[in-house]
Amino acid sequence: MKVRIAKNKQEFAEFAFEEMIDVIKNKPDAILGLATGSTPICLYEKMIEDHKANRTTYKDIHSFNLDEYVGLDISNDQSYVYFMNDNLFKGIDIDKNNTNFLNGMAKDVDKECARYSKLLSENEIDIQLLGIGSNGHIAFNEPGTSFDSKAHKVDLQESTIKDNSRFFESIATTPTQALTMGLSEIMKAKKVLLMANGKNKADAIYGLVKGQMTENLPASILQNHPNCVVVVDEEAGSKL
Ligand code: PGA
Repeated sequence: MKVRIAKNKQEFAEFAFEEMIDVIKNKPDAILGLATGSTPICLYEKMIEDHKANRTTYKDIHSFNLDEYVGLDISNDQSYVYFMNDNLFKGIDIDKNNTNFLNGMAKDVDKECARYSKLLSENEIDIQLLGIGSNGHIAFNEPGTSFDSKAHKVDLQESTIKDNSRFFESIATTPTQALTMGLSEIMKAKKVLLMANGKNKADAIYGLVKGQMTENLPASILQNHPNCVVVVDEEAGSKL
């Protein structure tokens, strides 16, 4: 595992961008695993800037997003489809037909997860971008999730609902369930890029990099990944 500690916000975005663009330049039809949340926004801004300045094209790029809330329509500005359109896709030339999401409005959730798992088994992700929860979750794989898991429905933990409530009117209106890619599927990506900033991530980052590999800290599975890069700021890396 390679750990890069950024000294400031610019370097944090720069380090992540370097890892991402390296894959895209070497493989113009790469499959990207994409993430939502506040952390990757600075990377997406850089990708848009680079697309405009250097004409890096995404026309042959495909993407798979990690997760989606259950019960939010894609027109809801907190749905992850909306987030990706708003924060990345509208600023680059990706073909929306090449972007893939779990459908949080699906009537038959098990069928929807099986559909996504099948697609993932047929498509090898070249780089999987990840954030990390303060409780060590990756995607919405909460502590206790099996390392063998595939796409599935999750009851979000109290701490995750609380962390996410900052994007909603109140805790009461924050979604309590989500669909997520499974840990075994994340591990199949050729390269993993995990980004974390802020001191509320310091314990999770310590556990990921130096702790015991345990299902109680889902991110620790990445200790077994052959090509994992962790980009942190000094606060998130403060316990390393
Ligand atoms: P954040 O979320 O980037 O908004 O902190 C990360 C996560 O929960 O995976």
